[in-house]
Amino acid sequence: MKWEKGEMLYEGKAKRLYATQDPDYLVCEFKDSLTAFNGKLKAELAGKGEWNNRISSAIMGYLNEQGVATHFVEQISQSEQIVKNLKMVPLEAVVRNVIAGSLHKRTGMPEGTPLSRSVVEYFWKKDELDDPMMSHDLILALEIADEEQLAAFHEASLRVNDLLGAYMAERGILLVDFKLEFGYFHGDDLTVGDEVTPDTCRLWNKKDMVKLDKDRFRRKLGNVAEAYQEVLTRVTA
Ligand code: TMP
Ligand code: ASP
Repeated sequence: MKWEKGEMLYEGKAKRLYATQDPDYLVCEFKDSLTAFNGKLKAELAGKGEWNNRISSAIMGYLNEQGVATHFVEQISQSEQIVKNLKMVPLEAVVRNVIAGSLHKRTGMPEGTPLSRSVVEYFWKKDELDDPMMSHDLILALEIADEEQLAAFHEASLRVNDLLGAYMAERGILLVDFKLEFGYFHGDDLTVGDEVTPDTCRLWNKKDMVKLDKDRFRRKLGNVAEAYQEVLTRVTA
């Protein structure tokens, strides 16, 4: 299939979406922008769009092979991939295996403390409110999703956690936490959308617990490019 890149439909902080000749499919172009804290911290990093496009292609391709429906169809250039056109749910599902980031702030427990079981949390995608955390009941009350949908998000999040945790472990990486977004293809087919990259995961090198993700940028730790390239190398090896 020869894909035609049409008009730009959407521009986010890290990606742009374009129409194709088929309304069911879009071109997703990864940008070189790095942002954190809802865009309050911003930078350009040449190459980052390519690295993330290739990392998300590899991981979503693997999830597809394992029977988890994702929006990923094929990589068409260094920084572009074809994705299914989903009707997105305005939630971020965060899966956590180890205490870090905002959970460290909330609990006061040291970063790196393993959780006795994996946790799924939901955040409402509302830029103007900095994506507040949402309880199960509040998601139902505001009719963002119903019981059946939430149960499906929970199950799919834990399934991806199992698959991605094992995939990263084989590559010497600890999957600390990550974020997923869900949508529906053709109305009712639950599908993982957005991206799975060092922007949206916490990935620690198992050997020395060095951070290989966007926390290097958020916390000004340096060697951001090296970390993303290291993840790309491990994922594509
Ligand atoms: P947190 O500890 O800041 O809540 O982040 C949890 C995980 O979710 C971490 O892997 C980074 C990812 N994440 C996003 O992908 N987008 C976001 O906007 C935020 C806040 C976190
Ligand atoms: N995704 C958010 C941003 O781009 C927050 C973050 O990842 O820290 O600003």
